[in-house]
Amino acid sequence: MENPPSERVAFQDLQPHGGEAFGRAVLGGLALPHKALPAKFFYDQRGSALFEQICQLPEYYPTRTEMGILARCLPEMIPLLGERCVLIEYGSGNSEKTRLLLQSVRPLAYLPVDISHEQLRDACASLHRDYPWLTIEALCADYTGAFELPGWALDVELRRSIFFPGSTIGNFTPEEAVPFLERAARLVGRGGVMLVGVDLKKDARILNLAYDDPAGVTAAFNLNVLERINRELEGDFDCRTFRHRAFYNEALGRVEMHLVSTRAQVVHVMGVSFRFEEGESIHTENSYKYTATEFQALADRAGFDSQAVWTDEARRFSVHCLVSR
Ligand code: AVJ
Repeated sequence: MENPPSERVAFQDLQPHGGEAFGRAVLGGLALPHKALPAKFFYDQRGSALFEQICQLPEYYPTRTEMGILARCLPEMIPLLGERCVLIEYGSGNSEKTRLLLQSVRPLAYLPVDISHEQLRDACASLHRDYPWLTIEALCADYTGAFELPGWALDVELRRSIFFPGSTIGNFTPEEAVPFLERAARLVGRGGVMLVGVDLKKDARILNLAYDDPAGVTAAFNLNVLERINRELEGDFDCRTFRHRAFYNEALGRVEMHLVSTRAQVVHVMGVSFRFEEGESIHTENSYKYTATEFQALADRAGFDSQAVWTDEARRFSVHCLVSR
């Protein structure tokens, strides 16, 4: 078998924004009858920093609730992950949650996959400082598309486990989540595990505050995508003429974020003109919420059996352990 790299920290850049992926997505999204942008483009350097601020907000319960579940239920999770596993993380960000697992899981290698280059680099450097025994092989890639793990990580003898916290799975519609989970089930292989955080359905008031905080951090996070278009794609958005709007769409079981044009206007991106009516919006994010049973049914369609599910006392958030069949 091929061995994991002896070099402790390796960094592979698959250029998730190469080939003008961002430009194509923006031109395509703004040309839709209902304008929309993929949520993954929030996370440039400034967007990642703003997201970290969101995680500190008193109204944004998911991060601290999930960390609480992980810390409390760790003794039950460890045996399910198995010994000497290869721990793959999707959307690792600052890897803060992973720190809760590393000491007791003691993976053979840690493979963080993230779209944000700078944040991934910083996270690897700081993990290397704090866990000098850990082999890290970082992949700067878009895990929602096709990407390849290093060959050694695909060895049939290894136990691959995917860690996918944060309820980022909620950014997919259920119809998108199934094929995504199918790919994950294939990647870990039969008997392989996915530990996934999923936000639970709850009172609309709690959700509305979590996604529209009084301090305006989420508004800044949402509006930053327009600034990013201005910076990177010769855009001329006047961000003062767009307003953050976030609300729980109970019928569809999702929080929607939009940027609403406060006036009729024409905006240019890469030389292309886009017309906005007053009140017209760009749909920038979906964040689906699931009951434990709903999510188990979704995972089942993708070839995963539910092994365990943990929640907090207030039943705000859930962590599922899924096993690929
Ligand atoms: C990182 C996708 C899990 O949907 O709650 C936070 C992103 N958007 N506030 C979420 C987000 C607005 C977050 N995820």
